[in-house]
Amino acid sequence: MTVSFGGRASSVRFEGVTKAFGEVVAVNAISFVVEAGSLATLLGPSGCGKTTTLRLVAGLELATAGRILIGDDDVTGLPATRRDVSMVFQSYALFPHMTVIENVAYGFVVSGTPKAEAHAKAELGLELVGLKGYGPRLPSELSGGQQQRVAVARALVLEPQVLLFDEPLSNLDAKLRRRVREEIRDIQQSLGLTVVYVTHDQEEALAVSDKVIVMRNAEIAQEGKPRELYEQPADRFVADFIGDANMVSADILSVDGTHARVSIGGVEVQVPSRGLPVGPVQTAIRPESVLLDTQGGEGLAGTVLKTAYLGKHMEYTVDSPVGELFVVDERVHAPLAPGTGVTIRFGDRIALVVG
Ligand SMILES: Nc1ncnc2c1ncn2[C@@H]1O[C@H](COP(=O)(O)OP(=O)(O)OP(=O)(O)O)[C@@H](O)[C@H]1O
Ligand SMILES: [Mg+2]
Repeated sequence: MTVSFGGRASSVRFEGVTKAFGEVVAVNAISFVVEAGSLATLLGPSGCGKTTTLRLVAGLELATAGRILIGDDDVTGLPATRRDVSMVFQSYALFPHMTVIENVAYGFVVSGTPKAEAHAKAELGLELVGLKGYGPRLPSELSGGQQQRVAVARALVLEPQVLLFDEPLSNLDAKLRRRVREEIRDIQQSLGLTVVYVTHDQEEALAVSDKVIVMRNAEIAQEGKPRELYEQPADRFVADFIGDANMVSADILSVDGTHARVSIGGVEVQVPSRGLPVGPVQTAIRPESVLLDTQGGEGLAGTVLKTAYLGKHMEYTVDSPVGELFVVDERVHAPLAPGTGVTIRFGDRIALVVG
């Protein structure tokens, strides 16, 4: 018997989808596309509508308005049982009295697949998540991370058109989070699966995604590739939610096609203009783009207020004519003491923001 996975991945398309629970609008007229075979994350603060969006894909909630397509099929009115979608929940929801292999094979057994074939597929699923040989154990005999991988295997073996993850790593410690997220990404890429992944951890979203959809108050604040969101955030909310940003008032002095010359307290930088006119503007300056110099030269005069040693970099809070700046500096071997006078210049990780 040969078993294999993959090959049935489909795109997901939302067209003006709204979900209201009585007075509460959990999802407000959102539209997006997740391409077949790609991984998209829904990222945003608590209560912004991420889980509801995922449940709308699964058919666990039905839309109040709008259309949902999986591949070319309009599934808007279809219940969960008639959609080819699997979901991995935050609490992995393994059956405690069943062995690992029985858990993974469960979906096949209920759909009438012969036990030998079901177990063969389940074995392969366990192998994919690095748990070959763990089949006979009970879930209680596994670590949290291993249980999480069993839940992933259980969803994976059904070869759904779309695989959904709702904060799958939230119960794991930091080291394991990184490992499991890399495994999920590897499996997704090697099998060409369509995955929609919910998290409120921006680093996790940047690390695993083809596309990140940032949500705020039931709407989409911005979507794009990880690099686009970090380097060209649309507004203050996105700039602050994805990584740290110093929000600093500045002036656009001139615009030349796609670039603008901007004065930040008198220090001039060139940044993408984003269609903004000459005049006052808000900038989002990344902490690694605030450059501190103790040798003088041109720049803003500042004073180090606070310093922290983080192992691979230093963090500083610096007082400056444009306000307090949060700074990340890789030069850990030559730390600056509080009170040190510095000259501040700016690198190129600066974005003009609208709102
Ligand atoms: N069944 C429901 N009945 C009423 N309101 C609901 C229901 N489910 C969700 N909501 C509300 O809809 C909004 C969005 O909820 P949702 O669970 O989608 O948020 P979330 O982004 O997943 O948040 P978290 O990060 O905390 O999990 C919230 O205000 C929530 O209270
Ligand atoms: Mg949620």
